[in-house]
Amino acid sequence: MEKRKLPRLAYNWTSAAGALIALVAGSVIIFLLGVNLIIGITNPYLGIVLYLLLPVFLVIGLILIPLGMYIKWRAWQRTGEIPAFKWPSIDLNIRRHRNAALIFILGSLLFVLVSSVGIYQAYHFTDSVAFCGTVCHKVMKPEYTAYRKSPHARVACVSCHIGPGAGWYAKSKITGLYQVYAVAADVYPRPIPTPIKDLRPARETCEECHWPSYFFGARQRQFSHYRYDEANTRWTINMLVKVGGSIPGAARASGIHWHTDKDIRIEYMPRDKKRQDIPWVRVTERLTGKSTVYQDITNPLPGTAPGGAAIRTMDCMDCHNRPSHDFHSPDYAVDNAISTGQIDRSIPEIKLTAVDAMAKEYKSEQEAESGITNSITGFYRNKYPEQYLKNVQEINNAVLATRSAYNTNVFPFMKARWAEYPNNIGHFIFRGCMRCHDGNHKSSAGEAIPNDCRTCHIILAQGNGKQPEQLDLRTGLDFRHPVDIGDAWKGGVCYECHTGVRP
Ligand code: HEC
Ligand code: HEC
Ligand code: HEC
Ligand code: HEC
Ligand code: HEC
Ligand code: HEC
Repeated sequence: MEKRKLPRLAYNWTSAAGALIALVAGSVIIFLLGVNLIIGITNPYLGIVLYLLLPVFLVIGLILIPLGMYIKWRAWQRTGEIPAFKWPSIDLNIRRHRNAALIFILGSLLFVLVSSVGIYQAYHFTDSVAFCGTVCHKVMKPEYTAYRKSPHARVACVSCHIGPGAGWYAKSKITGLYQVYAVAADVYPRPIPTPIKDLRPARETCEECHWPSYFFGARQRQFSHYRYDEANTRWTINMLVKVGGSIPGAARASGIHWHTDKDIRIEYMPRDKKRQDIPWVRVTERLTGKSTVYQDITNPLPGTAPGGAAIRTMDCMDCHNRPSHDFHSPDYAVDNAISTGQIDRSIPEIKLTAVDAMAKEYKSEQEAESGITNSITGFYRNKYPEQYLKNVQEINNAVLATRSAYNTNVFPFMKARWAEYPNNIGHFIFRGCMRCHDGNHKSSAGEAIPNDCRTCHIILAQGNGKQPEQLDLRTGLDFRHPVDIGDAWKGGVCYECHTGVRP
């Protein structure tokens, strides 16, 4: 009776090593899958090990087993132990053949099972927020950080960047391969250029969740500002923003969401990559085919109308271009910190000091940390030494709040900051709506795209004193600028002076 439990060929060092590698990799995979099932794996590096690295070891191990047997068979042939080629005969009555067959069948079944679970999980894993946001975290840190404080913090990156369907999935994974290479070889651009060249149209991403025919009515918004004076004087603006939209059955959409009504098509041609300079706009009514062209009369296009790829059809992303990655300016971030009490408004000149400290250009996060600290404490030590000694605690809190505002909105390594990524909603520190609504975009008949302040919003209250008791809700108040700048604010060109720092 034979003592061996497996075919003689299987007894060699290569096959044994292969079996050991496969066994260890397989057991670790099964163990980790079990852990994932019970408590869930959130660490992206563990995901890489589980779904990408371990399976490679498993396959290498499994390949080594027959490879070792083949090498041994060749050696036998050379030494003449086995005279000529012969297909192995399998006889299930022989115990060692039976064992080998059993191991082979069970092993294959297990392998197919584990790898199908693995492939499915790998598919999900490469789509997860953890993978997108943290695996190449130095590169994606700005977008990921902004994303986590956005209204879409619970919406997966892929819902906006890839959307449903196999076609875009494959496309994204193919361009993704290049991006992985670009990161590994350190040849990616900093900052990452915006807008993204081939972002999937909003029709197929945003509109999976947001119905364009939903009517929003008007949305009341309060903007809280603090002046750059000694008292950090508060100045608020309270307004109804006429979001509007379409009402099913109504003849025509109204308000701001009129632009994305299904019966309207707005096309435009930007002159620059960031789409901030728009000299040419065309509105087409889909039902009648009637179209109107508006041109920037102060800076028209040379020659005739543009054509082809230069033209872009307006969709949600042309206004909501930072729905998930809004990098706040120092002005806005410090206003926010004062509003929420992180910075004490009673510290004299704190608005100015904090904004100046945050707006300086630093080479690294470490440099920013000491730079902000020194610049704020230095200012108070010199200018308000007595105040400083009395209010060390408040000033230290202001330093911490400013550092935190910097860390969540400015990213020196990726050169990402507010000025690189304009937000197209509004017209306070970026052109936004005024890219078309500045009053200079006119049709051949001389009609301008509306510029009247009441086209888009109605001011209900402003300033810091008592508000008038009688307010006509149809017209609201006339805008009042906090300091006298004459007529310079007319036309809504706030961004010409307000750039995210002191105007
Ligand atoms: C609500 C939809 C949405 C979600 C969710 C989202 N993004 Fe974006 N993302 C956008 C839009 C819109 C742009 C800007 C596109 C444009 O202007 O063309 C963008 C731009 C980017 C850019 C290009 C650089 C820039 O800032 O413009 C990167 C990188 C990026 N996103 C990464 C991510 C990552 C990583 C996640 C998940 C952590 C994510 N995004 C989640 C909508 C989204
Ligand atoms: C997977 C679903 C989903 C997708 C895709 C999605 N959103 Fe949203 N969006 C939401 C949810 C949920 C909220 C509400 C969040 C809340 O109120 O806390 C929201 C809120 C918003 C808001 C209101 C934010 C505010 O200030 O209150 C805007 C604007 C918006 N989304 C625009 C977009 C745009 C533009 C896109 C496409 C680039 C998009 N969304 C894609 C789910 C989605
Ligand atoms: C012409 C610019 C523009 C376009 C195009 C546009 N929006 Fe808006 N949207 C706005 C403005 C402005 C607001 C009000 C923002 C605010 O007050 O914060 C708004 C508000 C919203 C809100 C929040 C409404 C509320 O009352 O809470 C959602 C959600 C939204 N938009 C989604 C979309 C989607 C989806 C699309 C594409 C189908 C779209 N928007 C197209 C400018 C636009
Ligand atoms: C690409 C150019 C473009 C941009 C950017 C743009 N608009 Fe418009 N908007 C137009 C055109 C064109 C019209 C229609 C003018 C006409 O035919 O009367 C219009 C009309 C409107 C109307 C009147 C709608 C109605 O009921 O008739 C409102 C309100 C409006 N826009 C708000 C905004 C707001 C708010 C923004 C910024 C968030 C914005 N628009 C950005 C091109 C633009
Ligand atoms: C084409 C539409 C449109 C026109 C015209 C327009 N605005 Fe606005 N305005 C907006 C939008 C959109 C916002 C931003 C709302 C938001 O962020 O939710 C805004 C914001 C503002 C704010 C608040 C800014 C802040 O951050 O505190 C003020 C003040 C304001 N507008 C004044 C004016 C004045 C004054 C005029 C006329 C000279 C004017 N607007 C014309 C669309 C418009
Ligand atoms: C000609 C330049 C100029 C234009 C245009 C302009 N501003 Fe100002 N704005 C200033 C100056 C200067 C201050 C005073 C800064 C200080 O010392 O507090 C100021 C202050 C403010 C403040 C008080 C908060 C702060 O940052 O000091 C608000 C709010 C404001 N402006 C809103 C607007 C709006 C809205 C528009 C567009 C409709 C606009 N401004 C257009 C120059 C301008």
